[in-house]
Amino acid sequence: MTTLDRVLGAGIPRVDGPQKVRGTAPYAYEQDPGEPICHLAVVQSTVNRGRITRLDPTRAEAMTGVLAVLTPANAPRLSGNLSSDLPVLQSLDVHYQGQIVAAVVAESSEIAKAAVGEIAVEYAAEPPDVALSADRPDLYAPEKVMAGLDTDSVIGDVDGALAAAPVSIDVTYSTPTQHNNPIEMHVSMARWDGDSLTLWDADQGPHTIVSDLAEAFDLEPGQVRVISPYVGGAFGSKAFTHPNQIVAAMAARVVGRTVVFELTRQQMFSLVGHRTPTIQRMRLGADRDGRMTAISHEVVEHTSRISEFAEQTATATRVMYAAPHRRTTHRLARLDVPPPTIMRAPGETPGMYALESAVDELTAELGIDPVELRIRNEPERDPERDVPFSSRNLVACLRTGAERFGWAGRDLRPRQRQEGRWLIGTGVAAATYPTKRRKADCRITAYPGHYVVEIDGSDIGTGAWTALAQIAADALETDLDSVRLRIGDSALPQAGGAGGSMGTASWGSAIVLTAREVRRRLSGEPPAEGLVVDGGFDGETPAAKTHSMHSFGAHFVEVRVDADTGEVRVPRATSVYAAGRIINARTARSQFLGGFSMGVSMALHEETLTDERLGHYANHDLAEYHVATNADIGEIDISWLEEEDPLVNELGLKGIGEIGITGAAAAVGNAYWHATGLRVRDLPITPDKYF
Ligand code: MOS
Repeated sequence: MTTLDRVLGAGIPRVDGPQKVRGTAPYAYEQDPGEPICHLAVVQSTVNRGRITRLDPTRAEAMTGVLAVLTPANAPRLSGNLSSDLPVLQSLDVHYQGQIVAAVVAESSEIAKAAVGEIAVEYAAEPPDVALSADRPDLYAPEKVMAGLDTDSVIGDVDGALAAAPVSIDVTYSTPTQHNNPIEMHVSMARWDGDSLTLWDADQGPHTIVSDLAEAFDLEPGQVRVISPYVGGAFGSKAFTHPNQIVAAMAARVVGRTVVFELTRQQMFSLVGHRTPTIQRMRLGADRDGRMTAISHEVVEHTSRISEFAEQTATATRVMYAAPHRRTTHRLARLDVPPPTIMRAPGETPGMYALESAVDELTAELGIDPVELRIRNEPERDPERDVPFSSRNLVACLRTGAERFGWAGRDLRPRQRQEGRWLIGTGVAAATYPTKRRKADCRITAYPGHYVVEIDGSDIGTGAWTALAQIAADALETDLDSVRLRIGDSALPQAGGAGGSMGTASWGSAIVLTAREVRRRLSGEPPAEGLVVDGGFDGETPAAKTHSMHSFGAHFVEVRVDADTGEVRVPRATSVYAAGRIINARTARSQFLGGFSMGVSMALHEETLTDERLGHYANHDLAEYHVATNADIGEIDISWLEEEDPLVNELGLKGIGEIGITGAAAAVGNAYWHATGLRVRDLPITPDKYF
């Protein structure tokens, strides 16, 4: 057996599992800086837009154990180049509800929180403008959407083709505001040594946080060190710097001691971003045999008044199905809301919900099986870029999934099966996610008997500690025990964060390239003493210019709906993925499982309700912001196809963190329609929408 067969792909248990179970893997809150830690608590604005007219910290300042109260009047000045919500306590202006307007540093968390209650703030406020609608006169087209993608795409004569199509649909879907809810809250522990800052932090990439902190405090990047070896979950909210890291560092500087700031669950609903709500108009035209002639996907979403975040909701539609006439657009409203951010497969998640729901509605109009209709519209090349796919196995995923699920013989008509009170239906939807990678450096030091592999990758709970060790062991042709991996520290060679499903592709490629050089230099001899090799690569794979690179998948779902109460359950599901090489069968399965479950959660529960009168998020904790649990979902059958794709990167892997959620909510919604005959086009599908 070669090393490659043994290590790569094997379902090796997490190498950090034992420490995590024993509580010896230190998370940000658990660091020991060698001195008593001060605690930070914040006062947050209760209005969405306006100006602070009075802020009196004297009662809080007088409390025993309070070390400092920071307000816009006395807080240190930050660099003027900070944008969005990062200039914390720099002005009396309020831009969103929940904005930090004062901060207390105290000897204990209890004292800090009690002192917060002693700070009176008054505002001159304007009424909140928080309601998104598709007919707002102030909708505008951003210059680009996320990832530098075009805001609009137009090919052919969409309106003409829709008018001429023998069969067409014109439907609008909406998805609500959603919030990232990793189990570990955002935590930052800050300590200054002279002009050098150390931040133990819960984030998705230390180097990303370093640049913003250096900017904020006018430091060289080398004066800031961010450390985050263990992170208790992150779906996008920990990818970028938020006000919490800035205010923790600011407070530590003021009191000259180590300060920790742990957000409460409720604070996570205003300080670390959310997924924008969307309104998506879908128009599809087709011949009677189900070949699509026109696809139109028009998106309305929101951003905040202080910064533009333009989610790329319709971009997955650009690659999914063949049709000569096609259009995608994105329009934004600037509202008095906190800045939105990324949340697991930002763009693809709401976008694929709308596209894959609309495709299902088209199959119902045509009386064609939804698997068959998708196969009939499979494009030969990327339909908008007109380049070949590096590999595309959507059809194989659909066929394999149909087989595993037992799709054959399904009645096309809705509301045909009932067992007791349960109406039963099945549904299908496709999944996709782009394959990319970004610049990463790596250092490998060879010692007699082992290698030290250093790269600033992040394990946010996904299993990167294990997958990267496997990649290194394979590339160095050694065993797992001979690899000592170091990640999650900005003092290590620079690499992008965990995001965009690019982590393993980027860090893994850097490790492979560096390991190749190590082996070349050793030319077969075992290292006698430390040999240090710095390697890595500069950015996107060259083939990204000439090929369209994406992973694909298919979800098959059974839904049961209580005919009396409208309660929805998902007793079984099958998901099949084609995502290139799988590095670790065990942790990969967990990623697919988690992504799919989050899609079920989106379909049935997740919704942040905005009070349009008072401008706040009404359900800002896990008691009222519901997520799917074991009671919602039964058996999930996860599998993947063997897919070789030498073009995407050194390892032929496509990234798996996000594809699982894409399309999953549509599969649930489609099965719900098949069970009940009702199309709910406004997520989530809560019981009230049954009546
Ligand atoms: Mo993911 S939303 O790119 O962290």
